[in-house]
Amino acid sequence: MATEAKKKTAPSTFEELLEYGKTNGYKLDWLQQRETFGTELDSADKSGGLLLQDVDSGPFADVPEWTNNVTGRPRGAMTRPSAARIGKYAIRTKADVWLKNGAQLYEEAVQRQWSSAVDVPWETLEELPDDIERAECQLATFLTEVEFVAGDVPGRWISETSPDYYEPRMFLISQIMDEARHADVFRKRALANGGGLLRQTSSAALSGASIDSARDFTEMSARLHISGEGLVLSIFRMGERMAYNDAEKAIYRLAASDESRHVAFGVMHLQYVAQTDAERTEEIHSYLDEIELGLVAGTGGQNPAVRGTPSNAAITALLGGGTDEASLREGEQIAAAVRQRQVKEYIQRIKVAGLGDRFTNGRAAAGLSDYVAA
Ligand SMILES: [Fe+2]
Ligand SMILES: [Fe+2]
Repeated sequence: MATEAKKKTAPSTFEELLEYGKTNGYKLDWLQQRETFGTELDSADKSGGLLLQDVDSGPFADVPEWTNNVTGRPRGAMTRPSAARIGKYAIRTKADVWLKNGAQLYEEAVQRQWSSAVDVPWETLEELPDDIERAECQLATFLTEVEFVAGDVPGRWISETSPDYYEPRMFLISQIMDEARHADVFRKRALANGGGLLRQTSSAALSGASIDSARDFTEMSARLHISGEGLVLSIFRMGERMAYNDAEKAIYRLAASDESRHVAFGVMHLQYVAQTDAERTEEIHSYLDEIELGLVAGTGGQNPAVRGTPSNAAITALLGGGTDEASLREGEQIAAAVRQRQVKEYIQRIKVAGLGDRFTNGRAAAGLSDYVAA
């Protein structure tokens, strides 16, 4: 009978609930149902699990071309008029940061996380000839420094991005995690076999000066994701040749799989800008002009064919198998092949981004074709 009595007094409509709340001291207006209630997911049982791109639909998938959302409101959530303006986001325009398949790339990043502690067979590190150990340590020092920049630079753009563009924002967060792991795994390699960190890179470009001076996200992304990380990816892909044990092979392979995702982000973003913001085409080409000047001049440490930097000497020694003259000559030849591959891969990425006309209309740096033809 008590239940019967309770049923009679229980509020049954939303208005009654509000009234009940008022008289009993509860704030119940948030109980109002949205128009999206009752939406069914048809992909919940898909293999691969429940992905962001599967759940976002209706108003939640509606990505605005520009946004005034500076309150941290999740995209699609209802506005709270008293919310404080917590973010003075520089990125409030979709084309500034967007890419196709950003959620997929983020989900992939989450699924492919690995641990430098247990996924690298450190027990396979054995005593190496002194010059080879020193070369691995010098290269690992260089890469630790490079990976710091690769995390540091995108990191500062995360808090500049409105939550309405949460997919690229969360991808960048995953990239920071990846780069932290890269910095940690190369540090471990330098220290794990009795060698240690060797000399810091002297080039200003390598400490991120050029990448970090970008005032625009697309400019930064072209310099970092397409140029800088693209070049490093080509080096990692030579890991089989630079590795002297399974631990080193695993390090280069795992890092390459992360880097290819970071490069893909940059290519897909550039593609989106090229397709949707024609007014920016000339500006984007000017960023590529600058990148190609660097590719042709090749003075940075990310060009393994340039002599005179400790990391390149290390790569040459590792590729050739030692520091005697014959080994260094052989290493130089392989390094030149890596350089050629870097340039070819750069050209391919720009074509995928939809800006490949520069390679046929005379815009691209002349020296690029020498590398490709070599
Ligand atoms: Fe990295
Ligand atoms: Fe990266």
